[in-house]
Amino acid sequence: MQKILVTGGAGFIGSNFVRHVYRERPDWLVEVYDSLTYAGNKANLKGLEDRVTLTVADICDESAIDAAVARNDAVVHFAAESHNDNSLFNPWPFVNTNLVGTYHVLEAVRHHQKRLHHISTDEVYGDLKLDDPSKFTPETPYNPSSPYSSTKAGSDLLVRAWVRSFNVKATISNCSNNYGPYQHVEKFIPRQITEILEGRKPKLYGSGANVRDWIHTEDHSSGVLTILEKGKIGETYLIGANGEMQNKEVVELILQIMGKDKNDYDQVNDRPGHDLRYAIDSSKIIDDLGWQPKYTDFRKGLSNTIDWYKDNQDWWKPLKASTEEKYKELNR
Ligand code: NAD
Ligand code: TYD
Repeated sequence: MQKILVTGGAGFIGSNFVRHVYRERPDWLVEVYDSLTYAGNKANLKGLEDRVTLTVADICDESAIDAAVARNDAVVHFAAESHNDNSLFNPWPFVNTNLVGTYHVLEAVRHHQKRLHHISTDEVYGDLKLDDPSKFTPETPYNPSSPYSSTKAGSDLLVRAWVRSFNVKATISNCSNNYGPYQHVEKFIPRQITEILEGRKPKLYGSGANVRDWIHTEDHSSGVLTILEKGKIGETYLIGANGEMQNKEVVELILQIMGKDKNDYDQVNDRPGHDLRYAIDSSKIIDDLGWQPKYTDFRKGLSNTIDWYKDNQDWWKPLKASTEEKYKELNR
């Protein structure tokens, strides 16, 4: 029996990971540790109550995180402020949660000598040129662009320093853009799906030539579980599934699947500092740990995700109006 603490486990990727562990490791107990910000939702953990508990607390609360780490065998650290557009509007929660909060998680695992897996993003590497055939590898220098990606980069560096200086038993993964069920409607794919479901048009930033490397959140979950169980302490693994697509292509595909004209979208103001292209070389986790992505049919994954948003309007409707209010302030 393993007891794991999952910070940020009531958010999009964290809750999908908790469901994955619930299914794949029936003898494990999971304690979700989440402060339930605007992005956290208890409903994401519905139906898992027999083996999953929820502690509502902040990772910046030193004594609460210390006590939670002490009562578990390992920690998977997803908790973060996660949206670039919000970080351009108000960077402080990003500095606080992603840097200060990760510091408190690290101090707790150091004191109690617990295993840690830290979740991060490929955005720490900055961006690639649109016509550059190369991909990010674990050797790519860090060069983040936004308050979001710079605070994630800083959190990775804290983890590396705690491994080297204090022998903390940690691994890190940097994953590409996730999609799937339970993703907040502020993010690109759910925003477009729900705009169409509410009778409005999708909103494409700038020309839509920017490229993101999409991975189904189930594949991210299996990658994280693989690293937690088989990863080498101190190592960084990149998780991606060769899912590069231009934003414009994604919007067109969503419109087509939803039975609309593929050109029926609005071009809105671009994001300042907008990263051009992300692309992951995941050969290390494949070669060293034997992981493989399974959900690589993007059209099918997108179609299932659209169905999920159609079938779960009670889940996203309460989030939608306030999200679009924020976008109105940003003029996007
Ligand atoms: P999300 O915003 O959906 O969820 C974040 C969760 O963390 C929420 O449940 C929130 O309540 C919780 N949280 C925030 N601040 C907290 C605090 N101070 N204390 C405790 N809990 C707090 O984010 P997500 O998209 O699921 O991302 C999860 C992790 O994965 C993040 O670390 C993110 O950087 C990383 N990541 C995301 C992507 C992506 O495509 N979304 C890709 C790669 C990596
Ligand atoms: P997002 O989901 O915010 O993820 P990230 O910024 O971490 O890559 O955005 C994905 C891409 O979609 C990014 O290039 C910005 C773009 N985008 C739009 O074109 N329209 C939108 O309404 C949003 C939210 C994002």
